[in-house]
Amino acid sequence: MYKILKKEELAPGVKLIEVHAPLIAQKAKPGQFVILRVNEKGERIPLTIADINLNLESIIIVFQEIGKTTKLLGKLREGEKILDLVGPLGTPSEIENFGTVIGVGGGVGIAALYPILKALKEKENYIISILGARSKNYLIFKDKIEEISDEIYLATDDGSLGHKGFVSDVLKSILDSGKKVDRIWAIGPTIMMKVISELTKPYGIKTIVSLNPIMIDGTGMCGGCRVNIGNKTMFTCVDGPEFDGHLVNFDELLLRLKTYKEEEQTALKLLEEGEGSKVVSK
Ligand SMILES: Cc1cc2nc3c(=O)[nH]c(=O)nc-3n(C[C@H](O)[C@H](O)[C@H](O)COP(=O)(O)OP(=O)(O)OC[C@H]3O[C@@H](n4cnc5c(N)ncnc54)[C@H](O)[C@@H]3O)c2cc1C
Ligand code: FES
Repeated sequence: MYKILKKEELAPGVKLIEVHAPLIAQKAKPGQFVILRVNEKGERIPLTIADINLNLESIIIVFQEIGKTTKLLGKLREGEKILDLVGPLGTPSEIENFGTVIGVGGGVGIAALYPILKALKEKENYIISILGARSKNYLIFKDKIEEISDEIYLATDDGSLGHKGFVSDVLKSILDSGKKVDRIWAIGPTIMMKVISELTKPYGIKTIVSLNPIMIDGTGMCGGCRVNIGNKTMFTCVDGPEFDGHLVNFDELLLRLKTYKEEEQTALKLLEEGEGSKVVSK
């Protein structure tokens, strides 16, 4: 059982929890994630380790409440416990001195980008951050990212903060300015990572994305998280979650993400009608 030490609402429907998990906190590296189960009847869901606190032997997770499990997780209070937490999982990010790195974060993906940019800053890279969200209320981790960035640009769909439009517009104008960029990380909704990867390909700048297919066991055994990378089948949980964005078959990934839409909607409806909570309280 893993105790929730702290809980915060960062934006509407976006929550941060700090969970006591000494072994995971000691081993976790940027880019890695955990798989958790809220309770005995719960499904396993993967969530990125957004930060670690070695003093409290804890890990920080930021999640968007979109379906049954993330909503159940969001209902837990400080002092309550999560049943299972497995990790750290996945291959850590490649952290080196590349030179100039641009980090593009969208929505809740900004939290996943943070530990990577922080580690890249420690390796003395010049960090340019581009953060985007629907509106300024959804722009999470802005201050934390600002602290480790040499330059930071913001974009909102409604123009309530920064550039009115997409992160890809901001990235394009930086690349068109002729600035030498050595590597790009893009983490956010799948469609955003697809657009960014298509944008950077002609510039020939290696672009790393962090994929979020459905996962089940997290060990490379079930095949649930398979993705097509350069026409080869790979498993996101062990070979990723980071891949070269120029090699990812995003259209296949977007299709696979829709596979269980109907079941997900039914599970959410049952939870909202009280059925789900009956199941979980057993
Ligand atoms: C490596 C990895 C890291 C992730 N990190 C974060 C994070 O830090 N913060 C965050 O908010 N989200 C993260 N996600 C996505 C998160 O796992 C899903 O939002 C969550 O599983 C949704 O569960 P649900 O029951 O609430 O919603 P559901 O109703 O089950 O699903 C809603 C949507 O979530 C996706 N989804 C459902 N089940 C899974 C699953 N087992 N694995 C992956 N995606 C699924 C599908 O696209 C689905 O359409 C990550 C995913 C992966 C693969
Ligand atoms: S989640 Fe089962 S192979 Fe990756």
